Formats: sequence, C-alpha cells, structure tokens
Amino acid sequence: MANLSRRKMLLSGGALGAIGALSVASPAQARTLMNWTWAPSGSVAGAGAGADPRWVWDEEADPVAAALLDSGVVPQVNALLKNWTRNDQPLPDGLPDYLHAFMEKARQLPAWADQAKLNQAADFNKRRGLYLNLLNGVGGGMLSTAIVKEAQAVYYSKGGADMEDRVAKTSMLGFAVGALDAYQPAGTCIVQAVKTRLVHAAVRHLLPQSPYWTGDVPISQNDMLVTWHTLPTFAMRKMLEWKVPINAADSAAYLHVWQVTAHMLGIRDEYIPASWDAANAQSDQVLPPAMASTREGIELTDILLGQLAEQTSPGSISRPLCNALARYLVGDQVADWDAIPREPVWDPAVSAAWPVLVAFREGLVPLPLVPEAAWVIDEAARQYILFYLTKGQGTVIDIPTINRPS
Ligand code: HEM
Repeated sequence: MANLSRRKMLLSGGALGAIGALSVASPAQARTLMNWTWAPSGSVAGAGAGADPRWVWDEEADPVAAALLDSGVVPQVNALLKNWTRNDQPLPDGLPDYLHAFMEKARQLPAWADQAKLNQAADFNKRRGLYLNLLNGVGGGMLSTAIVKEAQAVYYSKGGADMEDRVAKTSMLGFAVGALDAYQPAGTCIVQAVKTRLVHAAVRHLLPQSPYWTGDVPISQNDMLVTWHTLPTFAMRKMLEWKVPINAADSAAYLHVWQVTAHMLGIRDEYIPASWDAANAQSDQVLPPAMASTREGIELTDILLGQLAEQTSPGSISRPLCNALARYLVGDQVADWDAIPREPVWDPAVSAAWPVLVAFREGLVPLPLVPEAAWVIDEAARQYILFYLTKGQGTVIDIPTINRPS
C-alpha cells in the first residue's frame, strides 16, 4: 500500500463518499436491503428453490478444500496436479480419496452441454478474438477491480501480493475458454475450471482467517455471478454497442460456452442464465450493488495498468494510451472508481477512433475514413492481447495455503 499515492487515496475517498453510501452496504445491511427476485425459470436448470445466492457457496468443493488445508497435504496435492493438464487425462495416483472423488465428479460436463454449440463458440472466439480478448482480458480486469468484494478478496489473498503471477494464472482460464479445443479432449478448460473451483474453495477457507478480512465467507454464488457478468454479458453488450455483426447462432454459442464454464466453476445450474435476456436481467440485478471504489481496487488497477504499459513491447504503448483504452472499455463511472487517470490527448482520440476501427474491420467503412491514430490504438489492442495470452504460459494454477503475507 506504500506506493498508493495521496492523489489516488483522495480520489478513492471522494468516490466512496459520493457513491459508496448507497452501493457499499455491509452484508448485514445488504441482506435486508435487497430481495433476490431473479427467477430460476430463466436458468439453464429451468427451476430451483430461488434461494438468495449471496448465502450459497459451493457445498461440494468447500469441505474438500477445507480438509486438504486442515490436513496439510496441499503442497503434495499441488505437486501431483502440476502435470494434470488435459481435459481427457486421468487424474494422477496418490490424491486423497475424497479429492479424487470430488474431481472425478467435477470434471464431468453437464448433461445439457452441447458439443456442436461448443465447437461453434470456439470458432466464434477465433473470429472475434480481438474484441473478446480485449473485453474479457482488459475490460473484465478493470471491472473486477471495481467490484468491492472481489478487489478485497484478491488483495488480501495470497495472489494479491504478486499480481503478475495472478494475472498470469487468471489469464490461463480465459485462454482455455477461448481456445479452439476448449472442451475437446485435448483442451484444458475442464482442468483449469476444476482447479479454479478448488482455489476458490480454499480462499473461502483461508480469507476469513485474515486479520484484514471483515466480511462474510467470500466468493458466494452471487459473487461468482457478478464476476461472470463482467465476462460474457459485458463482452456481448459491448460488441453489440460497437455494432459488431453477430448472428443468432454465434450469439447462442458464445453464451453456451460461458454457461458450461459457469457450471464447471461450481455455479449452480439454477443461477446460470438460460438466455441473453435472462443474463442481462440478472446482470442488472447483481452488478450495480456489487460495484464501487475501494482502496484495494485502485491499487490493483494501478498495478495492472502499470504492468500492461511496461511489459508490452517496450515503447509501443504508453501508459496514457493504456489508461485511455481501459477507460474507453469500462466507461467513465468504473474508470473513476478505479481512479484510472483521465488522459486529455488519448481519451478523445480513442473514443473517436475505436468505432471507426471496428466499422473498418467489419467492412462497413473504407480505409481513407480511418484516422491515423486508429492504427496506434489497433496496435495497442493487439499488444494488450498478446500480453494476456502469453502471460499464462508455463504457469500452473495451484491451491493456496496462505493469505497475503503482508
Ligand atoms: C483465483 C477465475 C470469481 C477471487 C482464480 C483463478 C481463476 C479465477 C482462473 C486461479 C488463478 C489464481 O490462482 O490466481 C475466476 C472466474 C470467476 C471468478 C472465471 C467467475 C466467473 C471470483 C470471485 C472472487 C474471486 C467472485 C471473489 C469475490 C479469487 C481469489 C483467487 C481466485 C481470491 C485466488 C488468488 C490467490 O490467492 O492466488 N479465479 N474467478 N474469484 N479468485 Fe477467482
């Protein structure tokens, strides 16, 4: 926290003062403030008890992670799972029986998974890779730091102390979802999702032991839905806003791959939206009350944008351009919560050039209409994506045993 500048501190205080009173209710307040009204009839299960997902976690994974942590076997388990990488790969020998049983069940695709749709989604991900990676990687990242509980969970968990490693690990799942063989035997999506499910369960066990953690048990079903909407729901809304032509089959397929991913991450079927209409309605219900400015979110945003500006090929993207692209993707409200600096030169340039760039890419406007600045922005977007996609190479998602050390 030492490098949190005074200006950022003030900004964060200001934003909280203005907006926080309404949106950062304590869990106890939240319990009485809002009712869960999203109907389970709009879910992939088609029915459900309608229980408020803020008070539901992961009843299958949580006791498994707790037992692993309490018995001190996590380092051995992580070592055994290091080379478990392919969807079709048998689990290694030597895992505790209860973990083996959990993972065998957790790795099964839901009965409603549709391989044809998953294949189409993979193709869509390839064709729309530029937009999707930018929206899911940079956009999703900047949104997640403006989600109060997520920013704090990430900050005070082990990964919060090493954001570079964390970005690398998180990007592995994004990369797996976008890969052509995501849910095919040779793909990695099932593996990354099951590992992530265990990481989340471990965090639920560990974080409440942190002296800095004041809330309820983290990563509830509601929290996971909030984050989920910053990925597919946000990306689809943005692409439609940018007038990217998307046919009905692509749209349904893209929703489907994320429905399956939600299931594999341990989100209950009764909460997974069955259609974009249901997703949009749920997003509008869960996202606004979950978002606000926090000191932790501001610091994490600063680290993330600093990494982007530094580590993409030297000199190709300036920090001001990074800031402007991030602000353009998430909008002023979220950018201000994250204390992303305003950029007098690049902010207007990005807002003016990006829609023309999309239109050109989609064959809707001729080349001479594309302003020069657009190509700098186009290159920046590519560098951003390269950064996210290469980050994860060689890293392994493993189960943490501690919270943030300091
Ligand atoms: C870990 C993705 C929801 C907090 C991870 C990892 C991935 C991931 C891939 C493993 C990488 C790593 O170990 O750093 C997702 C996705 C989500 C989601 C796709 C929803 C669709 C959430 C939510 C929270 C959260 C809602 C908190 C409110 C964390 C934390 C870690 C983690 C604290 C562990 C960091 C560490 O100590 O290393 N997540 N996550 N995640 N996630 Fe999530």
